[in-house]
Amino acid sequence: MLNQFKKEVLDGLSKTPQKSLPSKYFYDKKGDDLFVQIMALPEYYLTRSEMEIFQEKTEDIISALSLNKENKYSLIELGAGDGTKTVHLLKALVNKNINFEYFPVDISQNALDGIKSYLRTEVPTLIVKPNHNDYFKALENLKQDGTIKIILFLGSNIGNLVDELATEFIYQLGSNLFKGDKIILGVDLKKPKAIVLPAYNDSKGVTAEFNLNLLDRINKELGANFNRAQFEHAPTYDEHIGIAKSYIKSKIKQSVIIDGIEFYFEKDELIHTEVSRKYDDQVLKQILSKTDIRWENKITDSKQFFANYVLEKN
Ligand code: AVI
Repeated sequence: MLNQFKKEVLDGLSKTPQKSLPSKYFYDKKGDDLFVQIMALPEYYLTRSEMEIFQEKTEDIISALSLNKENKYSLIELGAGDGTKTVHLLKALVNKNINFEYFPVDISQNALDGIKSYLRTEVPTLIVKPNHNDYFKALENLKQDGTIKIILFLGSNIGNLVDELATEFIYQLGSNLFKGDKIILGVDLKKPKAIVLPAYNDSKGVTAEFNLNLLDRINKELGANFNRAQFEHAPTYDEHIGIAKSYIKSKIKQSVIIDGIEFYFEKDELIHTEVSRKYDDQVLKQILSKTDIRWENKITDSKQFFANYVLEKN
């Protein structure tokens, strides 16, 4: 694990013409805490918008799933988080006497413990089977159990993959599903720069802290000597394409030593750290065209900021 981290950091910072670091490494303990703070920021509309869909449009989601009381379902949530959005759907399904079990899948045992005890109080009759596993391993293990699968992949998590990788991800999801299984995919929608950019450049500087924490993590875990004060958070948003990008910018010409290797930074040089893809129907159709998953339905919040697409395996 540490070796993999080291390898990806050294490779990323050796890249030309642009250095990069993978956003998956944002999430150490400090990064997890900062992301929880980000989700509560006034500028970060994503979480609130998707919450509105799960709270106000639960019935639309359920009818888009075309459930049948005779069938048995597995609701599998990839990257389950705290469960505060999903709980609305879970409660409604229990009230409708749908025969299902809920499988939150996460690589954090801590998150799974939290969700299990939260749901024990919120929906006491629900059968919750936490799965501490890699997403695709979890799906593979459940593939042959004879239930109809409903996969939840929420929070615009797919947006942190470039389109090529998002396609690969959906394709792989599909290969673990049978005809008629469903996916609920939560994506942030394209919208004006004046709304998107502040979500990645909040006034309190929490997102800046989240991005720059990556340098602290490299210092801590790989014994590097980044001087955090000499770097700054630099986000962009291309409104036309619909991609927000985060960079770490070197404020001065400097060098940093990691694992005995010296890396040089020009003044204003950028390290690319994250993409946050914003979707529209076209983007999704393009991605699905290379998979055996088709689009069934789209449910949005009242401002049309966010969408939960209901997809089905062919
Ligand atoms: C987890 N992911 C969907 C967040 C996003 O909006 O891309 C991560 C994030 N990065 C900066 N702020 C939030």
